[in-house]
Amino acid sequence: MSDTAKSFGYKWDRWKDICYSAPVMEEIREEFIEMFELPGWAEPRSVLDAGCGLARYREFFPAGTIYQGIDLSTAAEIARKRYSDRPDTKIDRGDLMNLRRDRLHQPDMIISVGVLHHLPNTEKGFMHLASLLKDGAELCVSVYSRKSQMREFLDDAIRRQTTKMSYEECFEVAAALAATGRELTKAKVMIAGMSLQRFIYWNVLKCYHNEEFGDDYSECVMFDWLSPPYAHSHTGGEVRSWAENAGLVVESFRSSGAAHWIRARRS
Ligand SMILES: C[S@@+](CC[C@H](N)C(=O)[O-])C[C@H]1O[C@@H](n2cnc3c(N)ncnc32)[C@H](O)[C@@H]1O
Repeated sequence: MSDTAKSFGYKWDRWKDICYSAPVMEEIREEFIEMFELPGWAEPRSVLDAGCGLARYREFFPAGTIYQGIDLSTAAEIARKRYSDRPDTKIDRGDLMNLRRDRLHQPDMIISVGVLHHLPNTEKGFMHLASLLKDGAELCVSVYSRKSQMREFLDDAIRRQTTKMSYEECFEVAAALAATGRELTKAKVMIAGMSLQRFIYWNVLKCYHNEEFGDDYSECVMFDWLSPPYAHSHTGGEVRSWAENAGLVVESFRSSGAAHWIRARRS
């Protein structure tokens, strides 16, 4: 099993309950619709979720929409069990780079949320998913955005070490950084219109903490950041150029501080 598969297998198994919890599901559903600009979208008849993890996005499509998910890690097995009684849902364990167009259920939409930057080469992953699109079908991808120089420098320096640690050691670092984020939120200081915690988070050090979801979820997010072997970041220009070079028409492009979200169609 690859290190990427092992790292995500550990994450999903350890934190599956909180990742499936109602408040987290509501947050990622809102983000999915808002960032891909999907309100009022014509619901696809068939969706491929490339790097589906626990297949949480299955919930955002109605029963009857054919959902195919693929994931490299054991999360695929957890998700397969969860949806075992659903004839409209098929989940496989495998590498999205091995997907072949003629063996797919001709999806109207391919989604890949927070996945491709974990491949050895993000652009190759994007091009591969684009090559699977039939005419008229859409590709919805989100990838990490490039941060400030200082944040990128520290991210690299920290990840160079944490990616080599055991998962328990890496968890200790994740917990320490989540606790740092929690403590910083107590300092009632504003910088450039942001709280001190937000300012440091975006410009200096990833120290995620979400008060509403609590320590457990915050540690999960930090582990997800520190452990996988690849976590590339990209500029918006890079992401747009991949879509254009793949011959796709960009329907929507949005950037949050954390990621770029692109929806593009093969016309
Ligand atoms: C951050 S998680 C996102 C999961 C899911 N899209 C979600 O948002 O809930 C990234 C996922 O990509 C999967 N992954 C990474 N490389 C992959 C590959 N080459 N093929 C299939 N899945 C992959 C990992 O196993 C992991 O579950």
